[in-house]
Amino acid sequence: MKAVCVRDVSFGYSEGLVLDNINFTIEEGDYIGIVGPNGSGKSTLLKLMLGIMKPQKGTIEIFGQNISSYKGWGKIGYVPQKAASFNTSFPATVEEVVGANLFSKIGLFKPIKKSDLDLVYKYLDIVGMREYSKRLIGNLSGGQQQKVFIARALVSSPEMIFLDEPTVGIDVKSQQEFFELLDRLNKELKITIAIVSHDIGVITQKVGTVACLGNKKIAIHENTADEHALKDMLRDLYGDNMRILLHEH
Ligand SMILES: Nc1ncnc2c1ncn2[C@@H]1O[C@H](COP(=O)(O)OP(=O)(O)O)[C@@H](O)[C@H]1O
Ligand SMILES: [Mg+2]
Repeated sequence: MKAVCVRDVSFGYSEGLVLDNINFTIEEGDYIGIVGPNGSGKSTLLKLMLGIMKPQKGTIEIFGQNISSYKGWGKIGYVPQKAASFNTSFPATVEEVVGANLFSKIGLFKPIKKSDLDLVYKYLDIVGMREYSKRLIGNLSGGQQQKVFIARALVSSPEMIFLDEPTVGIDVKSQQEFFELLDRLNKELKITIAIVSHDIGVITQKVGTVACLGNKKIAIHENTADEHALKDMLRDLYGDNMRILLHEH
């Protein structure tokens, strides 16, 4: 089954078109990296696939259903851009931040049941943050906060997760752990993953499929082993900056 099917989609803000008649699909179980220069429409595309904004033209289907009538949003996790930027005074603990994503299921003013709390701890375990469950979110490092936000996205047992530049501001070691985690989610839990990143050097090594946004279009590379074709495409998009982005010497 297809997780996402984007057909003839165009979208623009007041300044003009950002995406011009794009077509692509994400298969269930895919691990897709969406790359492209700043302002190329990566975040916009994610918001369209999440139904946060509507395309001006074309259709989007999620798990075979038209997005406008799609009811299964509980199956979709989302880690928005700059999700983790709490200051130290933010008055919520790690387990509260994660558990809050269960509120739609348990009702806003009911206390969290033990079974729900078990679920919260299960995913804090998966991201390696269980021992921090009683800590205030604002007292954690950017990388730790980001892991908590992954747990938050996972706690509702999604079949697909969208992440928008999740490693910005995270140190290199945490980034490595983070990508190992995504690998496990994809391979072991069979979660479909779409991740936006501007770090094409890292992304092209990790994902199964690369989607390049640029010039209002999208180009899909199913097999990142086809390194030459991919590099040619990236060179077209980024020009001379590509060597720096890929950490070439
Ligand atoms: N809410 C908005 N209103 C008007 N223009 C926007 C808005 N959000 C994004 N844009 C513009 O749309 C283009 C694509 O933005 P965005 O999707 O955020 O790109 P990316 O995530 O690839 O950096 C940019 O030119 C940006 O300035
Ligand atoms: Mg963005």
